[in-house]
Amino acid sequence: MVIGSTIIEARNVFKTYRSRSVVVEALKGVSLSVGSGEMVAIMGPSGSGKTTLLNCVSGLDVVDDGEIFIDNQTLRGMSDDALSEYRAKSMGFVFQAFNLLPVLSARENVELPLVLAGVKARTAREKAMEKLDQVGLADWADHNPNELSGGQIQRVAIARALANDPAIVWADEPTGNLDSENTAQIMDLLCELNEAHGQTFVLVTHTQEVGSRTHRIVNMRDGLIEESVSAAVQGN
Ligand SMILES: Nc1ncnc2c1ncn2[C@@H]1O[C@H](COP(=O)(O)OP(=O)(O)OP(=O)(O)O)[C@@H](O)[C@H]1O
Ligand SMILES: [Mg+2]
Repeated sequence: MVIGSTIIEARNVFKTYRSRSVVVEALKGVSLSVGSGEMVAIMGPSGSGKTTLLNCVSGLDVVDDGEIFIDNQTLRGMSDDALSEYRAKSMGFVFQAFNLLPVLSARENVELPLVLAGVKARTAREKAMEKLDQVGLADWADHNPNELSGGQIQRVAIARALANDPAIVWADEPTGNLDSENTAQIMDLLCELNEAHGQTFVLVTHTQEVGSRTHRIVNMRDGLIEESVSAAVQGN
């Protein structure tokens, strides 16, 4: 995969959470740029700000200070509607909190973002089947999540994130709760997609096996990026 020009850039981003009595400085001036087609893993201890960084840089949450550019557009300059539309068209999310809907089949779960984006029912169905096939679950399309294994559920979530063919895929712990065999399978899949389609991936992970399969590991500590280690240095 040839890494292209910068598609994601965060400049000196600050984010503080304030609740009644507690103030948490979750991001204390973070700068990061990610090239088009690059696969980056954000790692670091619990509470170091990884999820906050992902939420802020993807535009799900607002920053207190600093600037985020996606595709050379500043998020600050985009209206909520423009940002929602950009997200629906160009970004996919694999977040543990965004669980599959239990009453829908695997296929219906993958169709949902397409239908919400106004895609015609028949096209949405075809697209959903294509994505389930890509993640190796075509035969499981009619099963509900409670009939699937943890690894299969995670693959459905990935198929759903890929439904719109997004330029950027954000994933928070895409292999969380999976054993090493399922983790390796998910990473095989993400690496294949990255190679075949040049999609940009930003993954938050605690798992070294996941980090070591990416182009670069960005280590966070205490609201700051401590170091950024490219694959060449990791020895991949
Ligand atoms: N909504 C919130 N309100 C208040 N504090 C928050 C909120 N979200 C996160 N924090 C705090 O901000 C800091 C960074 O949290 P964050 O979720 O980004 O960490 P993380 O690196 O993703 O951790 P983990 O590996 O456990 O998921 C933590 O101290 C956390 O308690
Ligand atoms: Mg987190």
